[in-house]
Amino acid sequence: MDLAQKVMVGGVNSPVRAFKAVGGNPLIMERGQGTKLFDTNGRAYTDYCLSWGALILGHAHQEVVKAVQNAAKKGISYGTTTKPEIEIAQFIAKHVPSVDMVRFVNSGTEATMSAVRLARGFTKRDKIIKFDGCYHGHSDDLLAMAGSGVASLPASSSQGIPNAHIQNTLSLPFNDAQALTNTIERHHAEIACVILEPVPGNMGVINPKEDFLKNLRALTKKYKIVLIFDEVMSGFRTNLGCAQADLGIIPDITCLGKIIGGGFPVGAYGGRADIMKHLAPLGGVYQAGTFSGNPVVMQAGLATLKNLTPSAYNKLNKACDDFVSRTNNILKTANAQAHLANYKSMISIRFCTKPVYNYVDAQNASSGKKYAELFHYLLRQGIYWPPADLESFFVSAQHTAKDLNHLFDQIIVSLQ
Ligand SMILES: Cc1ncc(COP(=O)(O)O)c(C=O)c1O
Repeated sequence: MDLAQKVMVGGVNSPVRAFKAVGGNPLIMERGQGTKLFDTNGRAYTDYCLSWGALILGHAHQEVVKAVQNAAKKGISYGTTTKPEIEIAQFIAKHVPSVDMVRFVNSGTEATMSAVRLARGFTKRDKIIKFDGCYHGHSDDLLAMAGSGVASLPASSSQGIPNAHIQNTLSLPFNDAQALTNTIERHHAEIACVILEPVPGNMGVINPKEDFLKNLRALTKKYKIVLIFDEVMSGFRTNLGCAQADLGIIPDITCLGKIIGGGFPVGAYGGRADIMKHLAPLGGVYQAGTFSGNPVVMQAGLATLKNLTPSAYNKLNKACDDFVSRTNNILKTANAQAHLANYKSMISIRFCTKPVYNYVDAQNASSGKKYAELFHYLLRQGIYWPPADLESFFVSAQHTAKDLNHLFDQIIVSLQ
């Protein structure tokens, strides 16, 4: 790590990897296979971070690796439209209810940033609404009161962002239908879009209240405000229709990332054709990318999506629900001040017994010290969790009942 710190800021390329929230030295990983990560000392860890949710099929899945090798043999980047791009776009449009057309980019950050620009271009309005504790990547306008790594900054946003950017960003408490109604009723003529993680995972997992989402959809429809679901984390996590299909609320634009790249850098945003057609080359909203829709990435994504059969999802979702309720039953019986919250295979720990509905609840239920103790205890048992509280951990289709039993035993020993 000393070598890494000399040439990379904090020894990392993304802040939360630096273990600042949990202390100790970050591990340097060398290899991943199935559910396991191996560090440079050859020590194995059962991985529940899974490249921050991207690896729903686990590490180095045979069919994904084969697809990547075959694609790379045909050339790594063309800078033109390719067949796999069309095929994955068709797959996404077929399965995700809100998507008629899609644009691929290289990260979730790019997807949300571009979706907001598109919404502004479409509506000719400037203001955006987001929710405290939702994280949409690191573009200027979306960093206010953001969750994930931003939650551990001393201020509610990053330095280096001009006030003019943040002034157009209204950040509201999640799950608060009244605050949302008041803000939209007051400012609707200026509001281009509302963007949210429909099931937030970047302040730990929060399940949305049904009336909150229904009210959100009704208000945005009434005032012709573009509703953007950021499904970079939740997309393709529980089913092929994404969280919107589970929740029965269809946004105007959906942002995707992580899983659709099969472990490669990727992002995408798609939605109603009449909105998407405002993008260049058909419309006046500009957005472009040298590597967008890269053929190797698209093949990795396609191989991943094709392996996500309904039975694979059912098995994974059920295993996770069972694991969470079993853990919570024992924690409750033991009077432990902790519980697991989950949206199927997206799971997080809360150091409280009451459900968490918003960022304030999440911060009150977080305990850096307890999380750090749990994190390091699990690490010693060969289990790798995200190195920060207020993140989600993930289970892949490769994790077995034995893996989850082991995790269950270790959580119980550590927290009881
Ligand atoms: C919901 C959500 N949106 C956007 C992003 C940003 O994606 P990326 O890190 O690929 O830029 C993330 C990353 O964790 C995310 O969880």
